[in-house]
Amino acid sequence: MEVIIVPTAQDVGELAAARIADLVASNPDAVLGLATGSSPQGVYAELHRRVQAGSLSFAGVRGFALDEYVGLPLEHPESYASVITRDVVEPLGFDPSNVRVPDGRADDLDRAAQEYDEAIAQAGGIDLQILGIGANGHIGFNEPTSSFASRTRIKTLAPQTRLDNARFFDNPDQVPTHCLTQGLGTILEAREVVLVAQGAGKAAAIAAAVEGPLTALVPGSALQLHRRATVIVDEDAASGLKLADYYRYTYAHKPA
Ligand code: GLP
Repeated sequence: MEVIIVPTAQDVGELAAARIADLVASNPDAVLGLATGSSPQGVYAELHRRVQAGSLSFAGVRGFALDEYVGLPLEHPESYASVITRDVVEPLGFDPSNVRVPDGRADDLDRAAQEYDEAIAQAGGIDLQILGIGANGHIGFNEPTSSFASRTRIKTLAPQTRLDNARFFDNPDQVPTHCLTQGLGTILEAREVVLVAQGAGKAAAIAAAVEGPLTALVPGSALQLHRRATVIVDEDAASGLKLADYYRYTYAHKPA
């Protein structure tokens, strides 16, 4: 795992966006795993800036969202289908037919989940998965005790996650109780993973995921098993890391 500590939240977005832009430049029909939430907003903003400047195009890029609430209408502004359209597809100029979000409205959710993993496989797998992390260490919506082998499936949101996400809804009771999420096993199959986190509120989760024991209690710790995982954090999100100086030294001396 490579841990990169940068001064500000804006630097987090710029560095992660640079990595994605390099991938898309060399592979214009790359498959991206798309995260929602506030963490990747700076990444998408920087990618948008590059698209507007004409130096980057997502016209041929394919995308798979990480997760979706169960039961929210498609047109609900906080369905992840709406969020991905608003924050990613439209500003970055993806072809909407190239982007898929788990179907949290399906009558048969198990089948929808299985078909989602099959669609990822048919696309050739995910080249780069963008991730944020929840305050309780979740990635996607894989809540604590999710199996490291899990596939896309229905999960019950932890009460803390519903509270955390209540800010996006008029009233906390409106936050759905269930979701479909790529599993930890699905995420680990991505060829590359880039996790971004900003702010002191993520410091404990980052420390546990990066340096803590490999444990289902901290789903983000599954990334310790990934061969190509990069964690990009600002100083505040890095504040719980015991080996912060080592990560800074390593990045400063990174071989070309
Ligand atoms: C959300 C999403 C995750 C996200 C995490 C952190 O509920 N399902 O993909 O990484 O929780 O959210 P945020 O980035 O808003 O802090």
